[in-house]
Amino acid sequence: MRITVSVIKADVGSVGGHLQPSPALRQTIANVVRDEGAPFLIDHRVGSFGDDVFILMTHTRGLNDETVHHLAWEAFLRGTACAKREGLYGAGQDLLKDAFSGNVRGMGPAVAELEFEERTAEPFVLFGADKTEPGAYNLPLYLAFADPMFCSGLLLSSKIKKGFTFRILDVAHAEADRFIDLQTPEDLYDLAALLRDNERFVVASIHSRATGDIAAAVSTTRLHNIAGKYTGKDDPVALVRTQQNFPATGEVLAPYRLCHYVGGFMRGSHTGPLMPVRAGTGVSFFDGPPIVTALAFSMSGGNLTQPVDAFDHPFWDHVRTRAAEKAITIREQGFSGNAMLPQSELEYGGIVEILDALEPRFRIAGAMVDAPSHELVAAGAR
Ligand code: F6R
Ligand code: MG
Ligand code: MG
Repeated sequence: MRITVSVIKADVGSVGGHLQPSPALRQTIANVVRDEGAPFLIDHRVGSFGDDVFILMTHTRGLNDETVHHLAWEAFLRGTACAKREGLYGAGQDLLKDAFSGNVRGMGPAVAELEFEERTAEPFVLFGADKTEPGAYNLPLYLAFADPMFCSGLLLSSKIKKGFTFRILDVAHAEADRFIDLQTPEDLYDLAALLRDNERFVVASIHSRATGDIAAAVSTTRLHNIAGKYTGKDDPVALVRTQQNFPATGEVLAPYRLCHYVGGFMRGSHTGPLMPVRAGTGVSFFDGPPIVTALAFSMSGGNLTQPVDAFDHPFWDHVRTRAAEKAITIREQGFSGNAMLPQSELEYGGIVEILDALEPRFRIAGAMVDAPSHELVAAGAR
């Protein structure tokens, strides 16, 4: 049976700042999806990743389907009305367009979708990250799908060994989708050269070279490309099919033990470690650290099991402690150097305003103006 799995998520308001949606907001969205999705959805789940609410849906209508996307848009609009009634912060924050026009892509919510012929058993993992950018998945996906240090299936399974096709999107190109397809293992170094730059080059999808099957899809929304100004970090979602001809669930999870540094964190403008957390965990320390949740599902005929919370395990408690240490270490240097993102990635305009205001006070070194400003003032030269 050919099934489409769609996950659409948005931040439409949260309690106590940018921390977590309220139970009423989640319930409002879940009710809309349950009632209005009944005629065409096979199954669905609604939950949250940090301050973002996700809607996971299974159906047979294919990718970018207007009815499915409109349902999510409508649910987020009603969620926004609830958020406003409750006085939640940032109500409707990610709904950046006034009118729905066929597809939520480019309207603010993040989308990841997979369409495939369902296997006899169909395990997949839904990842959701908060306070970070789509490129946060670059390194974990590279390691899980292309590095035998993380995926021993690349050595042990002849189908996995054939490698994968990575579609990489240049998210700096806002006018249209600009992408490149690279194949592992032969393009491995080229792939690493692009994926090193999380802000610009983002894994959008991965296909098996052995079977042509879709393995993974990542939301690639850049909110500031849409809005042209600060609207919060993109907080990406990803769907990853696992087992058999794909990396095992454990291999897909393994790279998150690195807690690699990503862009986002406080005011979407800092560097912080990506902490793997239990489902329903919000953010706290400096509105962070950036977090990632992994919900592992199975399904049959599009009917979803309850998820297993894949980072809810004693092993990940140890990793979380390490992530907290990495977060403290980088926050110790405040605004200095790599702790704060480069100017092009800052989510607020304050630094640019400071630099603009200081511009006329810069002077070129020369005979007279070599003296510090206060001496020139004393000498009546200013
Ligand atoms: C980061 C984030 C928060 C806010 C911060 C200030 O993506 O959402 O760190 O940037 O709480 O929020 P405002 O500007 O809404 O007061
Ligand atoms: Mg937010
Ligand atoms: Mg968020």
